[in-house]
This record gives sequence, structure tokens and C-alpha cells, in this order.
Amino acid sequence: MSHPPFSPGRLLFGGDYNPEQWPREVWLEDIELMKRARVNTVTIGVFSWAMLEPREGEFDAAWLDDIIALLTDAGIGFFLATPTASPPPWFTSAHPDALPLRADGTPVLHGSRDTYAISAPAYRDAARRVARFLGERYGTHTGLRGWHIHNEYGTIDHGPHAARAFRQWLEHKYGTLENLNGAWYTAFWSQRYGSWDEVLPPRQTQYLHNPAHAVDFKRFCSDEMLAAYREQVDEIRSTGSSAPVTTNFMLPTWNHLEQWAWSDAQDFVSVDHYLDTAGPDGETHVAYGSDLTRSWADGPWVLMEQNATGIRVGNGTLVKEPDRMIRNSIGYIARGSQSSLFFQWRAGAGGSEVWHGAMVPHVGADSRGFEAIVRLGEILERIGEVAEPPADGRVFEAEIGIVWHAEGWWSLETPHLPNDALDYADEVRATHRSFWRAGLPVDFVRPGGDVQRYRLLVVPALYAMNVDTAAWLEAYVAGGGHVVVSFFTGVADPSQRVIPGGYPGMLRDLLGVRVEEIRPLADDEQIELSDGLRGELWSERVHLDGAEATAIYAAGPLSGSPAITRRAYGAGTATYVSTRLTQEARDALLAGLASGLGIRPTVEGAIELGVEAIRRRGAASDYLFLLHHGSAPVRVEGRGVDLVTAAANVFALEPGGVAVIREDAAEWRITAAASA
Ligand code: GLA
Repeated sequence: MSHPPFSPGRLLFGGDYNPEQWPREVWLEDIELMKRARVNTVTIGVFSWAMLEPREGEFDAAWLDDIIALLTDAGIGFFLATPTASPPPWFTSAHPDALPLRADGTPVLHGSRDTYAISAPAYRDAARRVARFLGERYGTHTGLRGWHIHNEYGTIDHGPHAARAFRQWLEHKYGTLENLNGAWYTAFWSQRYGSWDEVLPPRQTQYLHNPAHAVDFKRFCSDEMLAAYREQVDEIRSTGSSAPVTTNFMLPTWNHLEQWAWSDAQDFVSVDHYLDTAGPDGETHVAYGSDLTRSWADGPWVLMEQNATGIRVGNGTLVKEPDRMIRNSIGYIARGSQSSLFFQWRAGAGGSEVWHGAMVPHVGADSRGFEAIVRLGEILERIGEVAEPPADGRVFEAEIGIVWHAEGWWSLETPHLPNDALDYADEVRATHRSFWRAGLPVDFVRPGGDVQRYRLLVVPALYAMNVDTAAWLEAYVAGGGHVVVSFFTGVADPSQRVIPGGYPGMLRDLLGVRVEEIRPLADDEQIELSDGLRGELWSERVHLDGAEATAIYAAGPLSGSPAITRRAYGAGTATYVSTRLTQEARDALLAGLASGLGIRPTVEGAIELGVEAIRRRGAASDYLFLLHHGSAPVRVEGRGVDLVTAAANVFALEPGGVAVIREDAAEWRITAAASA
């Protein structure tokens, strides 16, 4: 951990508060309702640029002073956002060059939000100026819990400013054009660059983009946005403010940032998490988002936004029932969140997100939605002690690691792969889901990270890899670790250049296989394996070269050839899976491997009854969180006190309910209530 664990001394409860939408009498009601719900933290200023700086260089913060005073008098702390995600119309009019261009050259004009070209000097200057203003005015305010820089970095520009900055970035990376031409394989299709000025962002072109070019642009954009973030942090620090700093990541679909590098640059890591299904799999999505963010943070983290009442799926917003909202909120905390914060406090009466859920719905406080918020506030107060992290900052223990890197995603977005339906995020999430379904805790791991504590490491679809990553995996296995590598991992180098001589070139030795041929499957096709498992999307003609086959293809042109292999390597083993296993097959394989290594669920038998059991480590104790997603009551027996109900040692847990147990011992038994 590059910084001390984020420890605000309580669980933060509240959300984005945008008082600029309302007259002052509503603010007064807001404060009353916040007190009623025990809200202790709001995020202010996220999109307030136009009010804060109504004309270029002219600031008006009287309204913000007022609202901060009201909050502070009520004992409510605040995260202060810099408003730089949404430049006002005066900015566009004065600096038309600072608008982003899409890949097809269309300018993105104001009228929504996030209309800025990240590399435009006018934008960067304006962003620094407003950050400095806020730092000077509020940087040492006693109610300030932290800085929320910008909002969800991720606007991509393909315009002239981006082109200039991209060239500089490339020159710094490659030194010479010859190196760039080599890395980008520009000999193909006559793409050779004779001068830096010829290099463009990957704008609209006639046919397929060069994959090395496309991935370098993703890397550049992440670095460029990080530089802009750092400039704002520097401005704020130079005003003497030492409050912790974050910027909110966005899940599940935002993939513009290299999160490991970004996490290192923050005092605490925060995320906005929106469910993408109203079905039972939403529960695994909460766990997935939480485990990723905790891993990036390497410790406790902050849930900056979730939706209080709705789940946006397809064309509509489905209702998030109160029990689910509470259970999900506790689920984030179980996996290391120090907060339950929402977008937004009060549902807007207008604007583009008028139908977005809120802590106070349109109908007002007399609503199921707000009642649930009040209930959540009570629970959070009762369980508040969990927020105190242990001395080593490690709030969660896992014996399983899943390797994650944004570059894996970027690589698989390049066009014309053997099967373009292969999706990095789907692969990683399916892997995580398998462990969730087995009740097994997992962390995510950065390539090259510390993996000593993991007994099992899974590497899903990390297509491009450098030699250091390959050596790191080899050392892990040689030292006694067990790795599972999926198809299309280690096939190419970081320039997206395939290693010739048999796939996966980077890992042939470790895996003891040589793949001769990739054989994608048709959209509706499945392939049968000898052990009853099934694959989809992908298959391969695999030759053994030191490994043994643990499953073979059972039919079709690959009949009899290895499908899943295993090689003893040093003190550990390396397993290779050459097809995309169906979810059920993946569940069976991964749970079987974990159990073979003696990795046990947090509470034996709980998940089978629909109860997700998660242990969070704290300063005074460990806490067992039980989230009942199932449909029949269960009986819980062990030694400890449920902080939610004060019940001790033996109690019933109803469907939809939660328990947060301060443990006296780590042994628990969960059985169906009827059999008790
Ligand atoms: C994001 C933004 C918010 C809001 C929500 C809506 O997370 O940060 O401003 O737009 O999405 O879900």
C-alpha cells in the first residue's frame, strides 16, 4: 500500500448533493431530512462550475459558503468536488478549440456534460484555476473530508491538441520513429511514418485500425488524464490543503483508465457502481465491483455513488427494492467500502437525469425509498465500528487472486481478432462469478504484483503480455503457486505482436503446451469435453509439450486432442484452459481446483442456502457479514454478536436480511431454519 488505509473514523453515509438545483428553503428541508436519516457526508460541487465561475475568471462562492455553513452546523461533513467535468457554455464560446473531437472529426459541443478536450491548454488552465480557487477557500475547512477531483475521467478527444500530446507521448516512449514503426508493424499496409507530425490519434479511417496504434492511444489517454488530475491535485496542495484526494472511477463499463497507476496517485480510491441487472446476478456484481476496487486500493475504499431506488437495464429503470438496496450497501462495506454514498441526495425536478433514483425521491420523504434510507442510516450507525481498519490496513483476506489489467481489455477491443465476441470484462467477471458461487473470497492482482499470499492465481484472457509478466508467473508457480491460464493469454507482446512458433508464445514453457491452431466456434455452437464440461466461443488444437491433458475435446475435428492441460512446474502447477468454458463448467473447474488445494469457503454450506458470507477484518475484531439472497430463513450458530440486531451466538436470518457479526470465533454453522 502506497498510502495509509483510508480511515474516516466512521462509515460515511450520504451522497451527491446538488443544492444548486433548488431554492434555499429546500436546502433547509434537506438538512432536516439528512439529520433524520443520519447522513454524515455529502459530495458537493460535482457539476457546479457555471455557478461557481459564472464568467471566465469571476468567482461567486457565496452560495457554496452558505450551504457549507448549513451542513457544518448540522454536523455533516463533505467531499468537495472540482467541477471540471462540465465546463459551462461560456468556456466553449471562448475556447472552441478546447472541445473534444470524436474519431470521425465531429466536435462535441456543450449542451450535455463532459465537453472538454483534455489536452487543450485552455481547458487545463481553467481547470487549474477553479481547483486553486476551491483549495484556497475551503482547503482547511473542518468539515472537509476529502477532495473529489473531477468526475469519472473518460472523455476521449481525437482533435489537434490530442494529436500534439499523443506525438509527444510517443516520442517519449519510443525515442525514434524507427522504433515506433517497428513496434507498430507499419510495414503492413504501407503505414510507415516518416515524421512525428504524420502520426494521428486513431481517427476515422477506411478499414481496420492498427492494433498497436489503438492500444498506445488508450495508454496515452489514461496517462494524459492522469496528468490533468495531478495538476489539479498540485494546485490544491499548493494552497496548503492536506485533505485526502480521490477521483471517482466508474464501473462497470468505463475502461479508459489504467486503474493500478491511477490508484497509486490517490489518497483513497473511490468508485461509482451501478448494477447492470435486476436479477440475482446483481449480487455477484456488487461483489465484483467491490473486490476490484478494494484490490486497486490495496485496502479500504469508498463507494462514491450507487442508485438508491433504480437499476437501469436496457431501455428502462427497474425498481431496486428497499431490502436489496440495504443488502447491497452492506455488501460493499463487507468487502472494504468505508461508505454508502449515492447519486444523488434529492431527485432532480428536471434535467437529463430527472428519472434517476435518489435518496429522497420525487414524491418526498413520505416514501418507501426514503424510509429505506433512514433504515440504512440506523444500521450503518450500529455497525460503524467495522470502519476501523486493522493496523496492517488489510481488511480482507483471500487465497485466490485474479489477474486484472486494463490493457487486457484494450487489447481485446482491437478489431478482427479470431473471435470479436470475446470480451475481456466478461471473461474476468465470469471467473469472479465462479468463485462467488463457491463462496470463496478473491482479490484482483496487477501483473507483477505481490502474489505470495495466493495459493491459486487465475489469468483470464490477458492477450498481450511483456516478458516480465511471463517471468513473474513462472516464478510464482516455481515457488509453489498454482496458476490457471485461459486461452488467448500471453499470445502477443505489448505491441500486440503475436509471438511466432505456437501460441501462447509468452507462456509455452510454463504451460507445457504448443497451440497450433485457434478454432473459434460459431455464435450458437458449443463444444463437448471429455469430463462433461462444455466450451463455447473458442477452441484450440493443443499439443502437449511437457503438460498432461486433464480433459480432451470429445467430438468434432478436435476429438481426442487436449482441451485442459496441467503441468507440474517447480513446486507448483500450471493449468491451461483452451476453450471458453460455459459458466457452469467454469464454476465446476475452478471450485474443484480450489477445493483440491484445500481452499475453504468463508462459511461452509452458506452459499448453497443463498447466504453470502464475507469476513472483513477490523481493528478490534473480525466481522462476519451475512447477506441473505435466498428465499428461506436460515439458522446461524457460532460465537459472536450481530451488531444489527444485538442477537448473540444463535439467531435466525430472514430472506433479504443482513447480519454483521463481531466474531469471538471464526467457526460458524448455517443451516436451513426448518432443519434446526
Ligand atoms: C455517474 C455520474 C453521476 C450520474 C450517475 C447516473 O456515475 O457520476 O453524475 O450521472 O452516473 O447514474
